[in-house]
Amino acid sequence: MAAALLGSGRVALARSPKFHRPRGPSCFRAACDGCLARVDGEPNVMTCRLPASDGLCIETQNVVGSRETDLLRAADWFFPRGMNPHELLAGVPGTQRAMQAFARRMAGLGKLPGSAPSAQRGASPRRKVDVLVVGAGPAGMAAALELLRRRRSVEIVDDDLTWGGGTQSLLGADADAWTPLRNAFAAAVSAKSLVVRLQTIAAGVYGDDVLVASHLGVEVVVARTLVLAPGAHDGALDFGGNDVPGVLSARAAGRLLAHGVCPGKRVVVAVTEGGGPFGEAFARSAPAAVLVRAPPSMARGSTRVTGATFPASATPSAHPAKDVTLSCDALVVDAPRSPAYEVCAQAGATLAREARGFVVLVGRGGRIRDGVFATGEVVGTPLAPSAIEREAAVLDA
Ligand code: FES
Repeated sequence: MAAALLGSGRVALARSPKFHRPRGPSCFRAACDGCLARVDGEPNVMTCRLPASDGLCIETQNVVGSRETDLLRAADWFFPRGMNPHELLAGVPGTQRAMQAFARRMAGLGKLPGSAPSAQRGASPRRKVDVLVVGAGPAGMAAALELLRRRRSVEIVDDDLTWGGGTQSLLGADADAWTPLRNAFAAAVSAKSLVVRLQTIAAGVYGDDVLVASHLGVEVVVARTLVLAPGAHDGALDFGGNDVPGVLSARAAGRLLAHGVCPGKRVVVAVTEGGGPFGEAFARSAPAAVLVRAPPSMARGSTRVTGATFPASATPSAHPAKDVTLSCDALVVDAPRSPAYEVCAQAGATLAREARGFVVLVGRGGRIRDGVFATGEVVGTPLAPSAIEREAAVLDA
């Protein structure tokens, strides 16, 4: 749904909860708040996780005015150094209470739905499985195929709408490298050799219990072998305007392009040291894109990015002493991704702090502890077919 909205020119979809700054989809993997909308009366739906269909009613939340002109945005101008509503007019009789009531109405995300959603009652069902793989990206796919070869019975869960993870964000020759893995996995899926559950989240690991949630409800799955392959988060860079609608992760931009949606007419791609492969791959597939191998210092614009500023040394410039602003309506950022370590840490993994984030440390064969393994980018493995498949082959599961 978010891709459809963006493809039809609706880039600013949401507002930040406090200062009402415009937000747009930036990750397309349920990791930012830029695509939240009210859908058919239900608040805070991540539209990047919602299949598009005819007749859906999508409404922008938290605006007084319109999606692009929200009068409450004025809070950002009145309080340029931030605002703490609890201190606002504190101690002024009568006024403090009114101010706090106003602040409460202004802040937050969405309004309650008109009717209560049906809730699951009673204890969650428990189920035993042979192998549960968390994450249907490249590492999860390779691990699942390897365990199928060992005649194990495999179930794989992923919160995405489709399996494939980052391989869905590559096009042309960059995608071809993953074709053997994707074809093998597709064949296993169509032969029903394994169970694939999409739009399903492994929400937590508690001892041997994995809490699994989907729109069908919540259940506890106990796996003889648990393989964690959650991948990595998009790298975020610290620069002014990094939240302006139209600033996207390179992985998200590649995913859009693979669906036939180019995020802008003038796209600047910033690839930083340690990033890749999505930014360069996007630039190869979107011929009008301008590739800069440096981090931006500023994204310009309000409801949509209008330019990206780089240090002069990063671009061919007539004025080497001055920063250079490249006009654009989309800024694609490829920075080092940080391992999505959270569920592995819950399962008892030891972590190592690196510049890009926390990397999961594993023993021989990917072991975290008896019956629990981690594989792929979360353990620092490069996103390359040979490395991913080599690691799956030596899983000690
Ligand atoms: S959460 Fe949907 S685009 Fe980021």
